[in-house]
Amino acid sequence: MTSSQTSTKPDALASLNLQGQHSAVIGIQYGDEGKGQIVDVLGAHFDVVARYNGGANAGHTVIIGDQKFALHLIPSGIMCPDALNVVGNGVVIDPAQILKEIDGLVERGIAIGENLKISNRAHVVLPYHKVQDVLYDQAMAKAKGSEPIGTTGRGIGPCYADKALRTTAVRMGELLRIDELETKIQRIVSIKNTILEALAKTCDQPFEQLDANAIFADLKDQAIRLAPHITDTSVLLHDAMDDGKKILCEGANATMLDIDHGTYPFVTSSNCSSLGIYAGSGLPGGTIKNIIGIVKLYTSRVGEGPFPSELLNETGETIRQQGNEFGTTTGRPRRTGWLDLVSVRYASKLSGVTTFACTGLAVLAGLKTIKLCVGYRLDGKVIDNTLPANAGDLARAEPIYEEFEGFADPIGECQRYEDLPPQARAYVERVQELLGTRIAMVCVGRRRDQILVCPNK
Ligand code: GDP
Ligand code: IMO
Ligand code: MG
Repeated sequence: MTSSQTSTKPDALASLNLQGQHSAVIGIQYGDEGKGQIVDVLGAHFDVVARYNGGANAGHTVIIGDQKFALHLIPSGIMCPDALNVVGNGVVIDPAQILKEIDGLVERGIAIGENLKISNRAHVVLPYHKVQDVLYDQAMAKAKGSEPIGTTGRGIGPCYADKALRTTAVRMGELLRIDELETKIQRIVSIKNTILEALAKTCDQPFEQLDANAIFADLKDQAIRLAPHITDTSVLLHDAMDDGKKILCEGANATMLDIDHGTYPFVTSSNCSSLGIYAGSGLPGGTIKNIIGIVKLYTSRVGEGPFPSELLNETGETIRQQGNEFGTTTGRPRRTGWLDLVSVRYASKLSGVTTFACTGLAVLAGLKTIKLCVGYRLDGKVIDNTLPANAGDLARAEPIYEEFEGFADPIGECQRYEDLPPQARAYVERVQELLGTRIAMVCVGRRRDQILVCPNK
């Protein structure tokens, strides 16, 4: 075991009584709320950490001491020495990417072996998915009357589309019977080349035919390395439950990016709200009792899509810089704005949040005024407890704000909730009041020890 794996963790979380219940950590905004930090810290209290959705579009940061880890496909429980980490059937897996992550972790002293299991039912992201992802967005950017989504380019949408199509899909379990896969890859690549060439033409992009033999050769090498990790993870989770083990599900992306319930079409391609847990993991419906909703006390969003409380001014830039709001996956500058409680309330209901953990408070230090979006004005009506289903309508919504006095001093080293400046507490407590559900934790920075447990009031 390395020093990074044995770093002490705050035990104040024990007071939350999460133990004894299967739980989930779910992003309640547009992603990048700080899920990685919370999963890493809570992981010590669980036996299994399981991803159930998304793919390498996710970028979850875990900071331990002076080391920063960016996890995309591997669950954020991997730094907890005793946790079993499961990549569930609902995840789409780029073999090259997961191997890169494994190698990076091993290089930094994190043991990867029996502690990582990958579902044989999870779908495989292949090189043509990534080409298709980028070309589609380029084609939409070019076509009149259509808009790009601003995807991460990680092949997520095209891989889930193939999963739904079935005939052009590959699952991780097929890597265990690799010789049977050769002709299938050739057939799929031939179809993809035809489609992608035509797509490239529509957006005047050069296109180089993909080489099926090279794709298969890579897959064969990857299969040898990944085989020990591939198994029926649904059975594994059922057995863990039978043995009395406790499971923590790690949502990737976020509720407002959920394919069914987010700001469609500016969403990702999976059910990233808590609604996706059971389909994406094989856990029996109703298993998860605690839903820990992660809310950043301002908003960030990457890519296109409606964002009523967006700040296109100096304050937005200050938040971006102080919050280091640049994509963990793509490095893109994130759009920033005030906390939008209309969407947070909507998303919390959908995900069934039982407890909140809030991040981002430290980023607001130094702002003279902090604003909180508590409603929208749309077509002469005030909206505060629903969300327009149409993205264009949401984009037109004008935010209604409550204003709070800011706090000047940095708060990163506060040890107790009571040590926070009164203005910071007033803001957090008003957010809690409007949410009507306990905020149990507030992060004052990204480190493991920068999590304060809030009084239960
Ligand atoms: P995840 O995808 O939800 O795991 O979050 P990321 O690690 O991708 O991004 C979190 C973003 O929030 C980063 O840009 C952080 O700098 C910013 N941030 C601001 N305050 C906090 C905080 O208190 N905790 C964490 N974890 N992130 C914070
Ligand atoms: P984590 O888990 C922030 C966004 C993309 C894009 C849209 C669709 O780190 O919070 P996709 O590549 O999924 O087809 O892109 O969804 N998106 C995220 N934004 N954090 C994420 O994950 C995201 N995953 C997808 O920026 O707008
Ligand atoms: Mg992220």
